[in-house]
Amino acid sequence: MKTNLKPITLLVLAAALTACGGGSGGGTTTPPASSSSSSSVESSSSSSSSSVESSSSSSSTSSSVSSDGPIAIEPDFDLYAITPSDFPVGVAVSAANENYSIFNHSDAAERQSVISRHFSQLTAGNIMKMSYLHPQEDTFTFGDADQLVGFAATNGMTVHGHALVWHSGYQVPDFMNNYDGDFAAMLSDHVTGVVEHFETEFPGVVTSWDVVNEAVDQGAGDGFRRSVFYNELPPASEGEIPEYLKVAFQAARDAAPDVDLYYNDYDNTANETRLNKTLQIAEALNEEGTIDGVGFQMHVYMTYPSLSHFENAFQQVVDLGLKVKITELDVAVVNPYGGGGAPALPEYDEQLADEQKQRFCEITQVYLDTVPANLRGGFTVWGLTDDESWLMNQFANAAGANYDDVWPLLFNANLSAKPALQGVADAFTGQGCN
Ligand code: G3I
Repeated sequence: MKTNLKPITLLVLAAALTACGGGSGGGTTTPPASSSSSSSVESSSSSSSSSVESSSSSSSTSSSVSSDGPIAIEPDFDLYAITPSDFPVGVAVSAANENYSIFNHSDAAERQSVISRHFSQLTAGNIMKMSYLHPQEDTFTFGDADQLVGFAATNGMTVHGHALVWHSGYQVPDFMNNYDGDFAAMLSDHVTGVVEHFETEFPGVVTSWDVVNEAVDQGAGDGFRRSVFYNELPPASEGEIPEYLKVAFQAARDAAPDVDLYYNDYDNTANETRLNKTLQIAEALNEEGTIDGVGFQMHVYMTYPSLSHFENAFQQVVDLGLKVKITELDVAVVNPYGGGGAPALPEYDEQLADEQKQRFCEITQVYLDTVPANLRGGFTVWGLTDDESWLMNQFANAAGANYDDVWPLLFNANLSAKPALQGVADAFTGQGCN
């Protein structure tokens, strides 16, 4: 696997890149008390509101700015190479025939080069979810995922598997929605079938899995989402976590004892109710010895949640002796859920790019400061380039917004690096965030 030593493959890929001209180049709502880039909600596909606090504003950046192009830097570092050895620095990617596929998109070669240069871990944004891998009870379809995991293996990268169990819409295979039989045995077979495939075909490459994604729903009476999994395998008694979580984690543990197993959720840092529910799940599974860590999605904003919210949430997981992984990081520069309607789209100018750089730096810093090395599961950004972000769809009509972009990631649409990448690097190299 990739360590912070640069493998030869990267030199080859970097040369290829130069040659083709690409390159690096829910909850309680407190009214926002802040300024233009305010407040609220750590979003997900189905999240809701919350409150405030601001991170300090920033100073200069090392970016070289083109007057009419995107604000870009030319990094003199490879991100993964400046992180601690074996610290996974991940990126979620599209594959198969998805838009922005790293295999089929018009800029696929350049995309692969940037990914290989800066990241040491991949997550499939979609194609390793339930319905993609297991559409029918007796049919597993691994071809697209194998291409992705194979790419990672070839480039010395690991893969964080996402996600073995997720309630969301079409991601649940039809046969599970209408299952007439032993649901626990079926769910266990699903998890076993998927995990064992990658263990067998790509030993040591898929080093961690989101076993269950988004089981918390604070709107429900007991705080657990009423998914098909909950309905079939609810808590055995009041005060317990749903049985399906135990079944899925046990099956994953049995199938791959050395792989790190995560419970993953959103809006669980500032939102105390959702954080507490997350911790309840982690604690219960920890008692059974079937969980290794908690994944914090971290779809966040420029000033919300606060750094102290992150610190508090991470610390509580550390106190359980479990790993902390930032699994889906993005930092939107505007928040449509702050209350009072969506704010106008800001201009993504040098100042805003610099503030975002500082925000990425501070988030990385608070993670490194709070989570001891042996409990760091690493972090993953949810997409490579701003234009491919899921937020382009999510925010399109949120609260009446009609945003062209919310610039949430580390690379511009033309694959040049943003000051935000420098911000992450500054935290790893101890430069400080100002
Ligand atoms: O690939 C098809 C394409 O062929 C088709 O023409 C098009 C028509 O709608 O759909 C395309 O599939 C879309 C897929 O993304 C690939 O782009 C789906 O409609 C769309 O629902 C799907 O959205 C994904 C979403 O999860 C639901 O699976 C987002 O890309 C993905 O970023 C998002 O990721 C989730 C995490 O798994 C869990 N945490 C929240 C996060 C953001 O919602």
